[in-house]
Amino acid sequence: MIGVFDSGMGGLTAVKEILDIMPDAGIRYFGDTGRVPYGPRSRETIIRYALQDARFLASQDVDVILVACGTVSSTAMEALRAELDIPVIGVVEPTAEAAVRATKNKKIGIIGTPATVSSGSYARHIASLDPEIETFSVACPLFVPLVEGGFTAEGCRITELAAEHYLAALREKGIDTLIMGCTHYPIIADAIAKALPGVTLINSGAEAARVLANTVTQKADSSARYFVSDSPDGFARAASLFLGRSIDTQVEKIDIENY
Ligand code: DGL
Repeated sequence: MIGVFDSGMGGLTAVKEILDIMPDAGIRYFGDTGRVPYGPRSRETIIRYALQDARFLASQDVDVILVACGTVSSTAMEALRAELDIPVIGVVEPTAEAAVRATKNKKIGIIGTPATVSSGSYARHIASLDPEIETFSVACPLFVPLVEGGFTAEGCRITELAAEHYLAALREKGIDTLIMGCTHYPIIADAIAKALPGVTLINSGAEAARVLANTVTQKADSSARYFVSDSPDGFARAASLFLGRSIDTQVEKIDIENY
């Protein structure tokens, strides 16, 4: 059984990839919809939330946890691995490795939440793989609220304006590859691509999901259950849109403060 968590909907971009590779995978997904966004919060708070999220998934008897959140992967991996006795996979390393493979001109842009960008996680990992690569990082704090708020339709002007606002500087740097370092961002990839024509976009949730798929073996229970920390209303419908398949179980609300 694979546990996946994120602050909200973003981690579904990783679940989509897992189900594309392993249609019968058993999944337990937790979206912390009552406390999203994580990105503007302090390191201490992000670590506390991440430990609660992971404890909840561990209580569901998962064999492995995919941290489908760039913010938590940049901040809390050490704390998570110290506490849990099952494998914990984050998004930073697989995504940085994919970007290094993709770039031709050795100029990589990195976008993420404020916590992710200030942690320097992606840039550090890229530098360890190839010190000649130049990286340019921009925090995009409006993107997560736009996605959670449903401003995701192709051509949505508000999202396109936000993308232009954040990404114009990266266009001028001449990057050829962009790390979407937050798992919410692939949901608005159209707006991001429009602001950065010709740039290869790297999807962090999908890259981590591919690494995870290589490490797990299929078990008998192939059910998927989805949990949230606020009202489940609307989650199934929005989630189905992002997953490209319908969710045929009830989305369940849990009290994450109990974990
Ligand atoms: N999907 C999370 C990430 O990858 C969003 C964090 C947030 O809630 O701000 O960083």
